Amino acid sequence: MELQDLRKNYGKGTIDDYSLPSDPMDWFEEWMKDALKASLSEANAMVLSTVSESGFPSSRIVLLKHFDHNHFYFFSSYDSRKALQLQSNPNASLLFFWPELERQVRIEGVVEQAAESVSDEYFYSRPLESRVSAAISPQSSVVASREALENMHKDFLAQYPDGNFTRPANWGGYKFLPRLIEFWQGRKNRLHDRIQFEREGFHWKRSRLAP
Ligand SMILES: Cc1cc2nc3c(=O)[nH]c(=O)nc-3n(C[C@H](O)[C@H](O)[C@H](O)COP(=O)(O)O)c2cc1C
Repeated sequence: MELQDLRKNYGKGTIDDYSLPSDPMDWFEEWMKDALKASLSEANAMVLSTVSESGFPSSRIVLLKHFDHNHFYFFSSYDSRKALQLQSNPNASLLFFWPELERQVRIEGVVEQAAESVSDEYFYSRPLESRVSAAISPQSSVVASREALENMHKDFLAQYPDGNFTRPANWGGYKFLPRLIEFWQGRKNRLHDRIQFEREGFHWKRSRLAP
């Protein structure tokens, strides 16, 4: 395996200092639209990194389900490993990588549980079988076997064939408030574009970083 010989020159885009939105959330919206337009696989998949009480980082993919001018929203189990870490340390990061566009977005900030109404709205919009999985899965816990999991799913579905059950209290949304957002565009000769926004009160301070 000759990994050291894998080398790609980037040239799909540039970030021009003078034609940028001054608000990174507007910019994120533009880049997400580009990712969706390009029909990228799982364009809304992002790496969520959290930190344990003892300072160990841990990363996993979650799906961005909504964003507005202030927050990024994702959904998960409130009993999961990530949830326990967020409970003891709400600082976290998000990472998007869109290789076909040669773009990366890094986001750092603070996470808290979303309003119940946000969790309800999304939960009830999901297909029945996904809602059942959310209800029965003790996310991040050890389970006896695949079969045990499937039996729990089947039994729950038999109990509520019409899907007439409420959102489990231990499943819902998280909202991520960004304090730092960096946009990266691959450029030729490894002289990439990096533009960083840092929140300063109600404003964003913009800087260009060395690649
Ligand atoms: C493409 C993809 C999308 C995923 N989306 C979610 C999601 O939106 N929410 C979630 O809780 N887990 C999602 N997962 C599973 C997580 O990566 C992870 O396995 C799970 O949340 C448990 O993580 P934890 O033990 O660190 O809490 C996704 C995984 C992949 C690969």
